[in-house]
Amino acid sequence: MEDLIIRRFKAEDRQQVAVLMANSFRDDWLKIVNLPDDKLPHFLIETGEIFPYPFDGYMVAEENGDILGMIKLKWVGQARPRVRPQISRIFQYGFVSAVKLLVMRYLFPENPEKGACHVSEIAVSEKARRKGVATELLLFGKKLAGGKGLSKYTLNVDDCNKAALNLYRKTGFTIEKSRRNLLAKWLFGVDEWHFMSQPVGAPG
Ligand SMILES: CC(C)(COP(=O)(O)OP(=O)(O)OC[C@H]1O[C@@H](n2cnc3c(N)ncnc32)[C@H](O)[C@@H]1OP(=O)(O)O)[C@@H](O)C(=O)NCCC(=O)NCCS
Repeated sequence: MEDLIIRRFKAEDRQQVAVLMANSFRDDWLKIVNLPDDKLPHFLIETGEIFPYPFDGYMVAEENGDILGMIKLKWVGQARPRVRPQISRIFQYGFVSAVKLLVMRYLFPENPEKGACHVSEIAVSEKARRKGVATELLLFGKKLAGGKGLSKYTLNVDDCNKAALNLYRKTGFTIEKSRRNLLAKWLFGVDEWHFMSQPVGAPG
């Protein structure tokens, strides 16, 4: 993709990123809230699932003004704007949905190890898949991590997500730990998920 650029997220990208995230994880969101496709992006914005402000490590892949992918990285000591919790907005979607969302945040927290750069989110729009966009985003993240003196690159992935597992293996990640949790299975259908990592200095 010749005209693809990777740049920092800007506040005005929020709607496009919300649509990308709603479409990319549609089946997962539908386990939390029963909304039609066109209402999901607004749900993600309102509940704070789409971070609204730019910060170091929050990147999008753009081609001719079209946002085709995003990656959100996290590390200890990263400067992020403070965002107030959106609890009341979450509860307007109903008690059950609110509890599920909060349990999801509890079960799958973004807690990077010290000295590690953690991929907390990555997605590519359906029309741009299998063209190397995610690979470029991961490579960009790894270089950014190296530039910050971080030594390890990490992420979590659902065992069912074979596309992502293949992508991560191909870009140099290996499984470090696997986890299972009855609540994750019962509420979200996640039977097993893996913590994957690679050294930042390694090629790939
Ligand atoms: C997973 C995802 C980010 C991949 O994005 P992408 O830009 O299509 O990935 P790439 O083009 O860089 O693919 C690189 C490699 O990953 C693997 N891969 C990607 N998509 C795959 C698929 N659908 N099936 C099998 N392997 C796949 C392949 O090995 C591929 O190399 P190849 O095309 O030469 O065979 C994209 O499918 C997506 O956004 N999915 C929904 C959101 C998601 O699951 N995010 C990850 C959460 S952990």
